[in-house]
Amino acid sequence: MELIVDSADLEAVREIDSLLTVSGVTTNPSIIIKSGKDPERAIGDLLAYLRPDQKFFAQVVRTDFEGIMEEARAINALRPENTYAKIPVTRAGLRAIKAAKQEGLNVLATSIHTAEQGFLAAMNGADYLAPYVNRMCNYGDGVGRVLDLIEMLAASGLESKVMGASFHNVEEVHELLRAGVDAVTVPPNVIELMMDHPGTKKAVDEFSAGWQATYGRDHLFA
Ligand code: E4P
Repeated sequence: MELIVDSADLEAVREIDSLLTVSGVTTNPSIIIKSGKDPERAIGDLLAYLRPDQKFFAQVVRTDFEGIMEEARAINALRPENTYAKIPVTRAGLRAIKAAKQEGLNVLATSIHTAEQGFLAAMNGADYLAPYVNRMCNYGDGVGRVLDLIEMLAASGLESKVMGASFHNVEEVHELLRAGVDAVTVPPNVIELMMDHPGTKKAVDEFSAGWQATYGRDHLFA
């Protein structure tokens, strides 16, 4: 299982990477805009920070086939390896995913809203599929559909990895982890909710207070 940070906020990425086992970073146009930086700067800062073995995913902005291909090549050229072009599964996008894989580019099929879209992108050879879990929930049983996609890929022997995306709460992540999803890309605020629990803080505070009251110090050995 790969944990990816869904953010272009370098400080948030750095903090989470220091605490957890992070396999990479995903961005999309909205995430880059939110960083408040120019795209070149936001992407450059992330690439300067990431280790070579950590994956980087950047999304194409153009929506026509030629434009998508041009940007997918440029994204792949950013680093020698572990860099993926995120291509939305529109008609032009599906065509580009097929062509990009024939060229040997790394591709993540994104903005997936149905199991069928994910399945078709997998048939075109996408390395990763990013179903938009929370957004899919606006149209029905989003989590259930992603679980269907995982089953459909296994039943057909298709090898694309599923990277759950668009998580807005811990429960959505929980359900996919329980199903053994290949990867999840999670925004910093949801990762924080996964790490922190008031019950844990209460327990630690009780241990510290009891120790201090009994032994008059805050450390184990005198
Ligand atoms: C990541 O790859 C996706 O672009 C992202 O998770 C989408 O999240 P959103 O639905 O919160 O915009």
